[in-house]
Amino acid sequence: MKILITGVAGFIGSSLAMELLATGHEVVGIDNLNDYYDVNLKKARLERVSSAGKGAFVFHKINIADKEAMFGLEDSCRDVTHVVNLAAQPGVRYSLINPFAYAETNVMGFVVVAELARRLPKLEQFVYASSSSVYGGNTKTPFSVDDPVEKPVSLYAATKRSDELIAHTYAHLYKMPCTGLRFFTVYGPWGRPDMAAYLFTSNILADKPIPVFNNGEMRRDFTYIDDIIAGIVGVLKNPMRLQPDQVPCRLYNIGNSQTETLMDYISEIEKALGKGAVYNFLPMQAGDVYETFADIEATKRDFGYAPTTTIQEGIPRFVEWYKEFHGV
Ligand SMILES: NC(=O)c1ccc[n+]([C@@H]2O[C@H](COP(=O)([O-])OP(=O)(O)OC[C@H]3O[C@@H](n4cnc5c(N)ncnc54)[C@H](O)[C@@H]3O)[C@@H](O)[C@H]2O)c1
Repeated sequence: MKILITGVAGFIGSSLAMELLATGHEVVGIDNLNDYYDVNLKKARLERVSSAGKGAFVFHKINIADKEAMFGLEDSCRDVTHVVNLAAQPGVRYSLINPFAYAETNVMGFVVVAELARRLPKLEQFVYASSSSVYGGNTKTPFSVDDPVEKPVSLYAATKRSDELIAHTYAHLYKMPCTGLRFFTVYGPWGRPDMAAYLFTSNILADKPIPVFNNGEMRRDFTYIDDIIAGIVGVLKNPMRLQPDQVPCRLYNIGNSQTETLMDYISEIEKALGKGAVYNFLPMQAGDVYETFADIEATKRDFGYAPTTTIQEGIPRFVEWYKEFHGV
């Protein structure tokens, strides 16, 4: 496979690139290295991928919403077989502060990547990141891809749901095989500083209070990075088998299918650090949801997806990486 990955300097993108390069595939990576969070972390991930990739990895620093720059890649990407669109403006909370970043990357950028993908003569699959946040305030658990999702509670979720609808349109109009993956709270080594594991670890080590929203009364389906990557690779290796009259469009949850309380998650971090946190209990944040919980039956059935990592195993691995990376 020759895979074009957008967001390759990101948490999931760099981990996916590492796995694909290690298994003998070629990767073309795109990222604009924006400063939503520490650019040095993005550069360090990119450095890691470049060293692993040698001749099999090519990087382009491009904003995916920049049509001209993206279409300029068309010739050099003629033998790309798979596109994985992971570049996005993530984060539920930041969408209250900078809504335009979500419209630019998650909507405009998404359309540009889809337009580039449909021009690639050897394209077998277009795979893209959606999110558990599309389920909004759904109370029926576990969340199934058949559940209604027309009531997003954050702009981030609304743009991710828009991506799913846009993908359906490309599948319908151009018969472009599109697979959307709704990821559930991903954590692990090389993770994101704006997410709980990283933020809590760094605050605890710095003797700073950790913000605990809704007094800790939240549940999340925390998914370890290696399980997410195994899920994406499973999808890439399984082309769609559809009847000629079917629209080549599919959606899957990729979660751990274990919902944990936020306080249990924090307690694992405290144990791994051997140090207690100071809690700053805060009300529920606007745009946030109380619970996420993935129904992964279809993902198991179609791709043999089988997440294995509990938070008791995954959190110590994250903390170990954090300490090494930051020289703690
Ligand atoms: N991490 C999670 O828990 C989680 C959960 C659900 C969905 N997702 C989705 O998975 C994908 C990857 O998430 P992640 O956690 O690796 O995030 P990340 O922020 O670490 O990675 C995204 C990368 O995309 C790049 N990027 C952003 N805007 C860009 C643009 N306009 N042009 C080019 N590059 C751009 C960023 O620089 C970053 O390196 C995203 O689409 C995200 O919405 C992540």
